[in-house]
Amino acid sequence: MKIYPATDENILRGAALIKSGGVVSFPTETVYGLGADAFNPAAAARIFEIKNRPYFDPLIVHIAYLSQLEILSGDIDPMVWKLAGKFWPGPLTLVIKKLDSVPDIITAGLDTIACRMPGHPVALRLIKEAGTPIAAPSANPFGYLSPTKAEHVLDSLGDRVDMILDGGECPVGIESTIISLVNGRSLLRPGGIPLEEIEKITGKIIRPGPEISIPLAPGQFLSHYSPSTPVRIEKKINFTEDGAGYLLFHQPEGYYPGERTEILTKTGDLKEAAANLFSSMHRLDRLQLKVIIAEPVEEAGLGLAIMDRLKRASKKKQG
Ligand code: TXA
Ligand code: MG
Repeated sequence: MKIYPATDENILRGAALIKSGGVVSFPTETVYGLGADAFNPAAAARIFEIKNRPYFDPLIVHIAYLSQLEILSGDIDPMVWKLAGKFWPGPLTLVIKKLDSVPDIITAGLDTIACRMPGHPVALRLIKEAGTPIAAPSANPFGYLSPTKAEHVLDSLGDRVDMILDGGECPVGIESTIISLVNGRSLLRPGGIPLEEIEKITGKIIRPGPEISIPLAPGQFLSHYSPSTPVRIEKKINFTEDGAGYLLFHQPEGYYPGERTEILTKTGDLKEAAANLFSSMHRLDRLQLKVIIAEPVEEAGLGLAIMDRLKRASKKKQG
């Protein structure tokens, strides 16, 4: 059993593991991360092996203090401090120029680095106790649904990790919003902070199309965040399809198969829906259904991130 409740004592054990080159899964407010010392290339290489993640897909580096940015990036854009002041700790990742001292494996050889200060007490404590920034992708096999509970990590990565710190369910439930501040301001991934909120501070942010080019955002493959069961997005749902499960943003009025239906929110609250999204998809994925039929939501506010994940989940796996 590798799951440990996130007590003070266990966080200290996790920090000791990170310091000695281990790989520890820990809760953040968005999803569970799979963390290693950002300045230990061998430990970072284990993250890629454990996840079966291609080496050209760079990692996000998590910090607990603003001063840790100075060992990752030089010549920091004043916009970083403005955004950090408003959204950190929290689900915003900023892509900025990196220092040469950051190992190339972390950034997949790019001259930029993705940084964020997570808004979860366990994550912050772990980074502080480890005394080093922690590189961490989501703690799932590459391309699969992200984990929002410790059991999701155990089920999919199991004994390949040194320790799983259990801090309960991730309250935001959807990954951080990623903004690049290099060569203008652009959205690399919609996430837990609505773009509209960020634009109040930055002004207009460029939104690239759905298929972002490789060097810009290497991890944003068209097919991603996918359950094993095929996903279809449909506006009108009639609950008659054989072997189908349903993912809804409202409480249906008439009949629906309760055991195969996940209601992400009854009230249209997209915060609630985002928090439930991955857990609900994990549950439906265990039912051995033929298809998961998902209702769409408007692509505004958190709806942009939710629809991004649903659209990617609905794309056929590409080899
Ligand atoms: O909420 C989150 O961001 C979670 C938690 C654990 O913090 N992490 C997460 O990491 O979602 P991951 O590895 O699953 O997604 C990170 C994304 C990838 O798409 C990657 O390509 C992109 O960030 N990324 C990392 N460094 C980058 C860089 N220098 N330039 C552009 N994109 C970068
Ligand atoms: Mg991920």
